[in-house]
Amino acid sequence: MVGGNKEGIQTEQWQRLRDLAHECTTPLQQRFVSDPSRAERLSATLGPLYLDYSKHHLDSDILAALQQLADSAQLAEKFQAVFDGEAVNNTESRAANYASLRSWADDNCAETEINTMYQTMLAMTDSITGADWRSATGKAFTDVVNIGIGGSDFGPRLCCDALPKAGGAPRLHFLANIDPGCASKLFEILPADSTLFIVASKSFGTQETRANAQAARAWLAQQGIADSDAQFMAITSKPSAAEAFGIAQDKILQVPEWVGGRFSVWSGFGMALALHAGPEAFRAFLRGGALVDKQLRQALNTNLYQAAPVTLGLLDVWYRNGWGVSSQVILPYEHRLQLLPTYLQQLFMESAGKSVTADGLPLRCTSGTVIWGTEGTNGQHSFHQLLHQGSDMIPCDFIAARHSDTPLPGQHPALLANCLAQSLVLMKGQSAEEVSAQLQKDGMDANNADLLARHKAMPGNKPSTTILLDGVTAESLGALIALYEYRLMTASFIWNINPFDQWGVELGKVVGTGVLQALESGDTPPDMDSSTATLLAKLRG
Ligand code: F6P
Repeated sequence: MVGGNKEGIQTEQWQRLRDLAHECTTPLQQRFVSDPSRAERLSATLGPLYLDYSKHHLDSDILAALQQLADSAQLAEKFQAVFDGEAVNNTESRAANYASLRSWADDNCAETEINTMYQTMLAMTDSITGADWRSATGKAFTDVVNIGIGGSDFGPRLCCDALPKAGGAPRLHFLANIDPGCASKLFEILPADSTLFIVASKSFGTQETRANAQAARAWLAQQGIADSDAQFMAITSKPSAAEAFGIAQDKILQVPEWVGGRFSVWSGFGMALALHAGPEAFRAFLRGGALVDKQLRQALNTNLYQAAPVTLGLLDVWYRNGWGVSSQVILPYEHRLQLLPTYLQQLFMESAGKSVTADGLPLRCTSGTVIWGTEGTNGQHSFHQLLHQGSDMIPCDFIAARHSDTPLPGQHPALLANCLAQSLVLMKGQSAEEVSAQLQKDGMDANNADLLARHKAMPGNKPSTTILLDGVTAESLGALIALYEYRLMTASFIWNINPFDQWGVELGKVVGTGVLQALESGDTPPDMDSSTATLLAKLRG
């Protein structure tokens, strides 16, 4: 990892951000009144995406301070190191050059292991959809189950949910959680003699994935398919572990070790997308991501701050460190993107949930935010109350598609109108005076009107970004995901954390094994705390 310049970001620079936030008293709405070209200035087109970040507390002084911070953090050098394939994931000595994966879509990839991975993936996809590869009983596959969790699940699941199924493609299903209810429910609807199981695990050591794969094997045996080898394949960076698990060598798709789980949808782990939407859609998905790579690379050579993902990352730093914001909400006003908040939750929270710098020093600033959200107007009838009138400021990402291919034309404009109305109301709010005047006009007496107006007043001034996709296509989805990746990297590099590792999830796995042993054996370790010991006893009873 490129070290910070000797000084790194100084305490005064973080303080400067807090001071600027304190002085930031111009209402958002006023900024538009003072500058009619604001939306034009603070927006960008990025391939199939249009980004509007004008409804943010942003002016040239604030931008300059943020860019200064980024310069001190050597943001440009860090991005260059990513593109150069350096081991930017320093705690695991791995590169994170996902642009090199995406470049394959236009045959620009010179790396043998990447070419081999995609060629194998497409050959496997062809042989599954072309019925060369058949089930144990000789049937063509009608159903495919991707068994994987975290990064081996969220990306392919999001893409298959978002994009239409190609003609003749098998039905795709996803199995992640170790909860036996999940596998059992799925087995109820699967045809045993024509289902293929993809065991997707980078490490091939993940408890949930191994347990679900074993359950699938046992279920097939119960259904009379004792020799089910033909119905299993693996996607992994550990082919020997997959083989030891009983997956045939020629049914293993190897992914390079440096590909991180939550970034792996671009790799062989995206095979479910190729099966579901077709190989061309998979290529288009990579191409969409490559568009963002190209813009960022160009900006690196000219002015990094012209790149839209960088601006969004600067805004994340602005709100986290200047305003003390600790949560951000993702609001896709598009059913096809309903899984996006879940996908981004892992991308952002597993990446930025760190309290030490990349060099292992205590972090001198706050980092990472809670990412949450849900689709469309559902949230309006649920948590939007908190967005509008709660005491915390929660920056929102509104995401919508300009075109919908659903056959219910009347509803899409209403959906879009709701999307725009929410960001508008968050920005404008309404004063108690306005509300009271209206109530009195409607016949309420002044006292009661003033009282009720206190409850109905909306502070407004809440920032949001709006992202419009031309439509939900493989290309726009690829661009959208790459945009969020670089946004995440921007903020993480300024915080000087390593966004590519996830050590914080490991201890739970180890302790979980010990607890399982205690649960099953009935032996509670003597040093176990009384809370856990009592809970164990109750669960055993
Ligand atoms: O537990 C977290 C994690 O390590 C994620 O980072 C990863 O995406 C997921 O588990 C699944 O890991 P694997 O692909 O190795 O099964």
